[in-house]
Amino acid sequence: MSRASLEKQPRDVAGMFDAVARRYDVTNDVLSLWQDRLWRRATRRAVAAGTGMQVLDLAAGTGTSSEDYADAGVDVLPCDFSTGMVGVGKRRRPDMPFVAGDAMALPFADDSFDVVTISFGLRNVADTTAALREMLRVTRPGGRLVVCEFSRPPFAPFRGLYTCYLTRVLPRLARLVSSNTEAYTYLAESITDWPDQRGLGRLLAAAGWQQVAYRNLSGGIVALHRAVKPA
Ligand SMILES: C[S@@+](CC[C@H](N)C(=O)[O-])C[C@H]1O[C@@H](n2cnc3c(N)ncnc32)[C@H](O)[C@@H]1O
Repeated sequence: MSRASLEKQPRDVAGMFDAVARRYDVTNDVLSLWQDRLWRRATRRAVAAGTGMQVLDLAAGTGTSSEDYADAGVDVLPCDFSTGMVGVGKRRRPDMPFVAGDAMALPFADDSFDVVTISFGLRNVADTTAALREMLRVTRPGGRLVVCEFSRPPFAPFRGLYTCYLTRVLPRLARLVSSNTEAYTYLAESITDWPDQRGLGRLLAAAGWQQVAYRNLSGGIVALHRAVKPA
């Protein structure tokens, strides 16, 4: 596990996402070389939301991670603390019930959701453990958590190539496509500082989640963690 995720530098994360909101989706596609679509599909399969289920998509940003659930008739609630991201989301998808809320103090009652999911958001939350405990609180007993987040490729030669992309190529590409290059320098740093697959699994278990498991996507660039709230 790399440097503890719990000791993050204080930053104006909401302000940073406000600044990138307008071009957020197109930038994601380009910087991930369109892999983000594959990661989202795998996340949706892990969430396995059926009709009648209540899904909380936390740190939902502009709602890109929520919209396929809404399109499939699932009751999904996109929640984010950046008013810039939520504003772009509401204009894009006025049919989705965006809620402004902080992952560390969620504006929902205990046991409200069947599934809580968070895609590329947990790494940005200032206190990972506080957020994982809040997610546990708002999930119903026996309900599930699905976390999609950048991780660490286990195969060393591939990890070397990826690190080179992350630290040298990505900041240059970001300069071409994004409205805020500082945010993408932060992206590279925050991925490097984030716990690896097992490290995040331990954080989930320590926060009270059970049956913690993960699988790698794109050679471990991203990991999909799943867990269950004790019944
Ligand atoms: C990289 S975006 C991910 C957006 C979306 N889930 C997706 O997959 O495209 C990360 C989001 O996390 C949100 N975020 C960071 N800290 C948060 C917090 N404490 N509470 C709620 N949202 C937060 C940011 O505002 C940003 O919209």
